[in-house]
Amino acid sequence: MKYSRILGTGSYLPKKIVTNEELTKTVDTTDEWIVSRTGIRARHVASEEETSSYMGYHAGLRALEAAKLSAKDIDMIIVATTTPDKGLPNTACLLQERLGITGIPAFDMTVACAGFVYALSVADQYIRTGMLKTILVVGVDVLTAVTNWEDRSTCVLFGDGAGAVILQAADKPGILSTHLHADGRQKDSLYIPTWLPGQRKENELPYISMDGRAVFRFAVKALEQVMEEALAANQMPQSAIDWLIPHQANLRIITALAEKLKLPLDKVVVTVDRHANTSAASVPLALDEAIRDGRIQRGQTLLLDAIGGGFVWGAAVIIY
Ligand code: ACO
Repeated sequence: MKYSRILGTGSYLPKKIVTNEELTKTVDTTDEWIVSRTGIRARHVASEEETSSYMGYHAGLRALEAAKLSAKDIDMIIVATTTPDKGLPNTACLLQERLGITGIPAFDMTVACAGFVYALSVADQYIRTGMLKTILVVGVDVLTAVTNWEDRSTCVLFGDGAGAVILQAADKPGILSTHLHADGRQKDSLYIPTWLPGQRKENELPYISMDGRAVFRFAVKALEQVMEEALAANQMPQSAIDWLIPHQANLRIITALAEKLKLPLDKVVVTVDRHANTSAASVPLALDEAIRDGRIQRGQTLLLDAIGGGFVWGAAVIIY
């Protein structure tokens, strides 16, 4: 049986950093409020040039370099994003062009903050069945471009960035399992109105809209359940997990989950303090950071989780 193995990871963060202190100059908020409710201290904000395909390209290049491969070795590109450069072509095509390769399939997946885990799962199926050998999976978002900077209840929460992995077929694990869920009944808890001007309701702003408390409650319950499902599917006790790489939305959600899973916080990769919520990029950014700084070692067992507007959520168990 073939497994998909993470051969290399990469990431990209926009150059501009906006601290909580800077936000207080334009929004009625405080550093103390933001840190105590979310754990966020700063976020990276993309420039006009730093689009999803641009950031995804740079993250992808770094992942290729880490994998010691070149772009022509890639058999497929999947980009998880809710903030594509254009309505069409898709961001994966634009990224393919930047990489200077043609012919291989390239497509986007719009699964909000859970996009990377969903894309990883799809890529894993192609490799396990033997159809493809090497896949570039990118999670990237520019949520600050769809954030209302006058709405203090949302604008403090988001940041921009990209993370990428190169998956390759191998005889030993690899991704052990992925677990995906969705509940469309929750569509009004967290959404971005359509960007099609002809279909937007009058007076509706094209920005993220969120019922923070509803998201918080649902996220903790859904992520706890999907992580238990992932552990049970692999007959693993919590103690088998070397690293939890959670979706970086809110430090309170992350610590609540670590407590429920009885995982000490020093086994949890946290970037939300510096990156805020980067949506589809949050998990691969955290993964890349912890691999590059040497915390995550080959052979260790990783548990990934993510949740986003839909709601959509999922988990993955991976031997790195
Ligand atoms: N600064 C100061 N005060 C604020 C701010 C702010 N930035 N934002 C809201 N407030 C005020 C509110 O106006 C309210 O004031 P009031 O009591 O006078 O009406 C008060 O703070 C409490 O507001 P709540 O929304 O009840 O605050 P809560 O404790 O629920 O925290 C938060 C809000 C941080 C959004 C929380 O609900 C949360 O983290 N939810 C999860 C949302 C999330 O993670 N979303 C990310 C996207 S989804 C995803 O990735 C899964």
